Amino acid sequence: MHIFNNGKYKSLHAQSEGELNTLRQTVLSDQDFYPTYHLAPKTGLFNDPNGLIFDGKNYHIFAQWFPYGALHGMKHWQHFMTSDFQTFEKGELLIPDELFESHGCYSGGAILWQGNIVAFYTGNTRRLSDNARIPHQNIAIFDTSGKLLEKRCIIDQAPAGYTEHVRDLKPYITAEGKIRFVLGAQRENLTGTALIYEMNDLNDTPRLVAELDVNGFDNSNVFMWECPDLFRLGGKDLFVWSPQGKLRDSHQFQNNYHATYAVGQLNSHSFNAEHIEELDYGFDFYAPQTVENSDRIMFGWVGLPDLTYPTDKYQWHSMLTMPRKLSLKNGKVVQQPIVHLGEPQEVEISENVAIDDLDTTYLQISVENQPLVLDFFSNEQGQKLTIRFENGVFSLDRSQSEQMELMEKFGTVRHCKIEKLETLEIFFDRSVVEIFLNEGEKVLTSRFFIAKRENIVKSSRPLQARVAKVIPISVE
Ligand code: FRU
Repeated sequence: MHIFNNGKYKSLHAQSEGELNTLRQTVLSDQDFYPTYHLAPKTGLFNDPNGLIFDGKNYHIFAQWFPYGALHGMKHWQHFMTSDFQTFEKGELLIPDELFESHGCYSGGAILWQGNIVAFYTGNTRRLSDNARIPHQNIAIFDTSGKLLEKRCIIDQAPAGYTEHVRDLKPYITAEGKIRFVLGAQRENLTGTALIYEMNDLNDTPRLVAELDVNGFDNSNVFMWECPDLFRLGGKDLFVWSPQGKLRDSHQFQNNYHATYAVGQLNSHSFNAEHIEELDYGFDFYAPQTVENSDRIMFGWVGLPDLTYPTDKYQWHSMLTMPRKLSLKNGKVVQQPIVHLGEPQEVEISENVAIDDLDTTYLQISVENQPLVLDFFSNEQGQKLTIRFENGVFSLDRSQSEQMELMEKFGTVRHCKIEKLETLEIFFDRSVVEIFLNEGEKVLTSRFFIAKRENIVKSSRPLQARVAKVIPISVE
C-alpha cells in the first residue's frame, strides 16, 4: 500500500488526526445551503455517480469524492448502500493506494459477476519524470456486504491513436455472457469518441473491438467524450454520455459541458440514432450513470467541471441528483424522481404566499399550458428564483440570486422548449432545485444561492398547488 501525499493528491490514508472533523465543523456552519435529501459529501467535493449496481438486495452507489475541500483533488470513491433510496449505509471506499491509481480513482461503472460487485474504473496516474498523464483502467472487487476484496490494473496505457484522455469505463454483460465496456476517449486529432472493449471473463485481457460510431450526432468542436453508458430501454438502445466542446444553441447545450442521450438501434458498433437530445436543461447537471433493477435508474452529478460555488467556503461542493427512473415516451427519454414525500396539502398560490419549509418542499402545479411567472423566496437583498412559461418556452432565471463565476459567460437564464406544459413539479432542497415538466418529459437541475431567505412564493395568476414535504434521507 502506498500513502500518496502530494499537494492536492493526498489520499485518506494520509489524513492527520482530527483533520476531517475540523473540516466537518466548517461544513456544519453552513446554515443555508447543505441539502437534506440529496447525497452530498460530509466534507469536500462530490462529482460523478460511479459504480451503480443492484446486487439483488441493495443498490450500491459510489460517488467521485475529494475529502479535503471544495476542489478537484485526489479522487476517491465514496460508497453508499441502500434498498429504498431513503436510508443509506456506507460501504468500503476506494482509496487510491496503488501505483496504478496514484493520482486518483476516476470514474467507472460496475457489474455483478459471480456474486461479487466488480467496479471498473480509471486509475489516474502521472509519470514522475515529465508529469504526463498515463490512464490506467482497473477493477476493484467488492462483496455484496460492501467489503473491498481486491484491486488490479487491466490496461496500463492509452491505446495507439488516442491521447492521454481515455477514461470512464461502463461495463455490461452481453447476451453471450461476455464482459464489454464502453470507455470515453480523445482521438489523436483531438476529437471525442467512445471505445468498446471486450473480455471473455475477468482473467482475460481486454480487447479493443471498435469505436462506437454514433450516426446523427454532430461532433463538430467536440474534443472529448466523458462518462459513456450504453444500455437497453423500452425495446431500444440508449447511449448516454457527456461530450465536451459542443457549441451552444439558443435552447439547448447552454452550459460549458453537456450530458446527452441518443436513442436508437445499435448494430455491432454502429449506433443509428433516431433522436439525440440534452438530458437536462438546467444550469448544473453532468456525468449521469444508470443502473438496472427491474427499472432503469439514473443518478447525475448536480454540477459541472470547472464550476465554483458560493458554498466552497464551507468546504463542501456539489451533490448527486435524486435517483430518476427512466422510460421512453414517443421515442424520447422521460425521467421520474424516486423520492419519499410527506402528506400532501392543497395550497392556493397568489400574491405572496408563505409555505413552511418551502426550501425542502415538493410542489406540483397544474399549468394548463397558460402563461405563468413564479417567484420563489425573498430576502433583504431582494433575491429570488424565477420560473416562467410563455409561448412554448419554459425558463429558469437565477439572475436575482447570488452571482457565480461563469454566469457572465454562460448566462443567467436557461430555456427549454416544451410544446404544451401541463404539469410542473418542483423539488427544492436548500440550494438545489430539480424541475420536472409534464411528468419528466423535460428536466432542469440547478443550484441557486439565496441566503437567509423567506419561504415565500408569488404567482402571476392564482394557482392551486399540491405541496408536500420531502422526507430527508439518512446516511448511517
Ligand atoms: C467527469 C470527470 C470524468 C473523470 C472524473 C474525475 O466529471 O471529469 O471524466 O473520470 O470526472 O473526477
